[in-house]
Amino acid sequence: MSLKDFPEIRRNVILKNYCTFRVGGPADYFYSARDFESFLNVLKAAKKENISVFILGGGSNVLFLDEGFRGLVVKMEMVKIEVKDEILIAEAGATWLSLLKTAEKADLSGLEEMNGLPGTLGGAVYGNAGCFGKETAQLVESALLYDPSSGKTKKVSRDYFNFRYRWSRLKETHEIVLRVTLKLKNQHFESKKSDTSPRRYGMRGEKYEGAHSADATCLRAKNQPLGFSSGCFFKNPSPWQSAGLLIDQCGLKGLQINGAQISPKHGNFFINTGTATAHDLLSLRDQVKKSVFDRFQISLEEEVIVVKNTP
Ligand code: EPU
Repeated sequence: MSLKDFPEIRRNVILKNYCTFRVGGPADYFYSARDFESFLNVLKAAKKENISVFILGGGSNVLFLDEGFRGLVVKMEMVKIEVKDEILIAEAGATWLSLLKTAEKADLSGLEEMNGLPGTLGGAVYGNAGCFGKETAQLVESALLYDPSSGKTKKVSRDYFNFRYRWSRLKETHEIVLRVTLKLKNQHFESKKSDTSPRRYGMRGEKYEGAHSADATCLRAKNQPLGFSSGCFFKNPSPWQSAGLLIDQCGLKGLQINGAQISPKHGNFFINTGTATAHDLLSLRDQVKKSVFDRFQISLEEEVIVVKNTP
């Protein structure tokens, strides 16, 4: 089969509509994957035709280029979630919002800190997303993966991922998350702000282990900006150094290149004020990297995935 045999694959789809940065030109092919079988058939066809594939979750941690993507973008829209005792079994396209709602309904605890985290479960596993002291790694029990190079699926347990800060081994193997088993606790879902002493909003959120759902929402509103952004642009260089603070100390908050701005609220958030191009955002990135290196001799690394074309 060839990609032409799938009528649901669209051509020249503008990618800015599929990422929270709202930038990016056309993808040659675009496919919304809603069931495993057709998804696997589409991937096999793309492989046979030697077409590059980019797997897209919620689009909250990607930067598409203005020239777009020469290949096939597959948007994971498999979203089923099942509850079994203390376990959630969720497909890769499930959003954190839907996972939280399911946990709250089943009165299971463990996801509260993730309240407000954008994106999908598949993307979160791939990049070990986290906030307020919780990382996806702490929740994953096992997962079903697809390996495009062998065309096979396999079930793996948490250890397989070698999770580290904003990293999983999938970044090297390029295997695709299909389904994830999350282990929660049979304790009450904590939706309300606790009445204990106020929590300090500190580096990497370590103090927030056990933060309640409402706490996460309040802290996010207080410290993080709204607008078209991808969350933190850079990884923190170490557990005791915040990229946002380093950028702030360089006096860069509010700096703007055309429509791309460093948030005046948080130095590690780049904002598309409405008219930014990917080029503007990348120019801002370069300027920030240079300033932080010149001042602190620290090379910041992107957390955001810049979706490049293979030469
Ligand atoms: N700070 C400043 N100025 C700034 C930014 C931060 O002074 O412009 C200070 C803060 O006041 C705080 C410290 O630097 O004392 C650390 O900042 P913050 O608490 O905002 O945490 P962060 O390290 O910048 C990390 C994650 C966020 C996550 C928050 C809360 C990374 C790159 N970022 O931010 O994740 O929401 O902790 O847990 O690890 C993301 O990954 O996209 C993301 C937003």
